[in-house]
Amino acid sequence: MTAKPRRYHITTFGCQMNKADSERMAGILEKMGFEFSEDPNDANVILYNTCTIRDNAEQKVYSYLGRQADRKRREPDLTLIVAGCVAQQEGEALLRRVPELDLVMGPQHANRLEDLLEQVFDGNQVVATEAVHIMEDIAKPRRDSKVTAWVNVIYGCNERCTYCVVPNVRGVEQSRIPAAIRAEMEELSRQGYREITLLGQNIDAYGRDLPGTKPDGSHLHTLTDLLYFVSDVPGIDRLRFATSHPRYFTERLIRACAEIPQVCEHFHIPFQSGDNDILKAMSRGYTQGKYRRIVDLIRKYMPDAAITADAIVGFPGETEAQFEKTVKLVEDVGFDLVNTAAYSPRPGTPAALWENQLSDEVKADRLQRLNHAVTAAAMSRSQRYLGRVEEVLVEAQNVKDPTQVMGRTRGNRLTFFKGDIAQLLGKIVPVKITEIRAFSVTGEMLENGKARSNSALETASVQAK
Ligand code: SAH
Ligand code: SF4
Ligand code: F3S
Repeated sequence: MTAKPRRYHITTFGCQMNKADSERMAGILEKMGFEFSEDPNDANVILYNTCTIRDNAEQKVYSYLGRQADRKRREPDLTLIVAGCVAQQEGEALLRRVPELDLVMGPQHANRLEDLLEQVFDGNQVVATEAVHIMEDIAKPRRDSKVTAWVNVIYGCNERCTYCVVPNVRGVEQSRIPAAIRAEMEELSRQGYREITLLGQNIDAYGRDLPGTKPDGSHLHTLTDLLYFVSDVPGIDRLRFATSHPRYFTERLIRACAEIPQVCEHFHIPFQSGDNDILKAMSRGYTQGKYRRIVDLIRKYMPDAAITADAIVGFPGETEAQFEKTVKLVEDVGFDLVNTAAYSPRPGTPAALWENQLSDEVKADRLQRLNHAVTAAAMSRSQRYLGRVEEVLVEAQNVKDPTQVMGRTRGNRLTFFKGDIAQLLGKIVPVKITEIRAFSVTGEMLENGKARSNSALETASVQAK
């Protein structure tokens, strides 16, 4: 009799979308009776949930995979799975490249993992990359955090940014219905979660694929309506959402964020470039002027709001002067954080075929200069925290200093302070900020401050004693 595989390991690459998918797939594996193993070499089902946004992300996957493929030649009972965006992009070609693979599955198939694995255990090599209607979540995700959780509200992306693989690998937009989203949030609250981030690659598109129109002919379901609909789930004290697209960002949404106490004053709105011609070549559908107006509007309603973004340097044809406009935008806006990247040509995207590609040296040099500007901007944004008392939701122990805990302000600044995680996990406490760095701050918990907690978590910790 062959021993049935019992332990699984998942390594996740890429964005929050992939992390949320991994948590659902882990939930399915646990429901099937598998136990989590931190060490892949100790697991007999190994799943790599992959990312292909840039070439280096994709190459990392192949090096991980190569090691396990070697192992599989010695241990034929090992089950090897590639899920996520590289799986979707490469499909059957992955089986030719790594014949040891048992299952190649695109992101739209995450909720079907059990069914697909049954086919594998029956002796098939399986590729699941066809476009499907995403099933409503059936399994309970195995979430990494007990305090903060992701909830998908829209899958896929209908934009056609000329550099981006996401529409090819994640498919067309599919919104979940508001009732299903709210039900998932209520369940999270019962489990003690306090902060939820609503997720979508282009979250402002939420609802445009759902049926129904308002009397004025606009879509019945929008992100703004969804925020109002889910904001009063009892016990969920903080709501966030990502990723916003400047093309669709509305004043109505900003007003809703200012009005709903649970919505945190933090906006993640990638601008990609500070130059209008580059933005046009990227097919982004806005100008840097429109972006600045969005920022001004946010600050009009919420003067203290944190604004973060993504930017790309070295897009095909980008001149030094155009690049400097990106730096200027970073300096002018005063971002709390910007995720920066050197442009990487991706298979199946228009810009990859253009002849005006820049050299790696130019891209690396611009990346370094932009990062310098980003750090300086973040540092000056951190200044405003000094001496202030911030509400911090405690998420974990500080791995580098176990006498400290780690949490976030409403503006999403990473905050460290002395405290006992056993007592503080999941609590919102007032912290006086005493020390700042560009991307994180340190403070002291105010003793007389009253911690607020989600009562469900309180009961859970009482029961655990
Ligand atoms: N949906 C989001 C971002 C998705 S991808 C948006 O519209 O902004 C995350 C980030 O990766 C992007 O914001 C972009 O900055 C970066 N990115 C995407 N494709 C890239 C490429 N080909 N080269 C370099 N960076 C890229
Ligand atoms: Fe990619 Fe553009 Fe869609 Fe964002 S909006 S996922 S950058 S195609
Ligand atoms: Fe990567 Fe796919 Fe996310 S390509 S960034 S994991 S959508």
